[in-house]
Amino acid sequence: MNIKAVVFDAYGTLYDIQSVAAVTEETFPDYGDIITQIWRIKQLEYSWLRTLMGRYESFATVTRDSLAYTLRVLGLTYEPEAFERIIDKYLHLDLYPDAMDALGAMRDRKLAILSNGSPDMLDALVRNSGLDRVLNATISVDANRIFKPSPLAYGLIETTLAIPPASVLFVSSNPWDACGAKAFGLNVAWIERVTPEAMALACVETETIAPLTMFKTLRTQMDELGFAPDHRVRSLAELPPIVKAA
Ligand code: LAC
Repeated sequence: MNIKAVVFDAYGTLYDIQSVAAVTEETFPDYGDIITQIWRIKQLEYSWLRTLMGRYESFATVTRDSLAYTLRVLGLTYEPEAFERIIDKYLHLDLYPDAMDALGAMRDRKLAILSNGSPDMLDALVRNSGLDRVLNATISVDANRIFKPSPLAYGLIETTLAIPPASVLFVSSNPWDACGAKAFGLNVAWIERVTPEAMALACVETETIAPLTMFKTLRTQMDELGFAPDHRVRSLAELPPIVKAA
């Protein structure tokens, strides 16, 4: 049994970040899609900028700041309650439908999350979605006050689980995260939820590229960073046989 632990990214991998669109659209009709996409793009950008600046703030703060930026640049005015209603969705994101079954099928290994999310966000999310029943650990990068893809963030897997990188399968749908994990020395499965063929098709099928399509071009296709994942899968459901064979 080569793989002793399967460690998952949270946002976008186990949890569907696009599920915030229901709340953003309800709160700001016709702006749901653009808010959802700018928010996530800026959230990640702020995590990387803060890391480079040496000015760490928790992902909870980064998530609030990036939402405030998004609503401001779109010229939207709002009551504090509206802001809190949208932020609260981050604690109740939808699990991908195949997540629970896939995790259940790999329970003979250690199962964990390694996420940029701060402990308060992750604990609430994991509890609200019932994943606390199957996970052995929820690891937040906050322990080292640095965001993925810093090696210091991936190093927390070994510190917490006492399992070396060579015996860990790290799973992410975020291409930058898959590259970071591979650069660090983990075995990596990348969930390619949008194939290049589907992407190319989406880019030509309408005259105006929708915000979601733009987001997909930026954040769902493999990056040119010189690292390739060990496994390319389309969904979480494809993982159990890979882990069994490893
Ligand atoms: C995570 C985000 C950044 O670490 O996808 O869960």
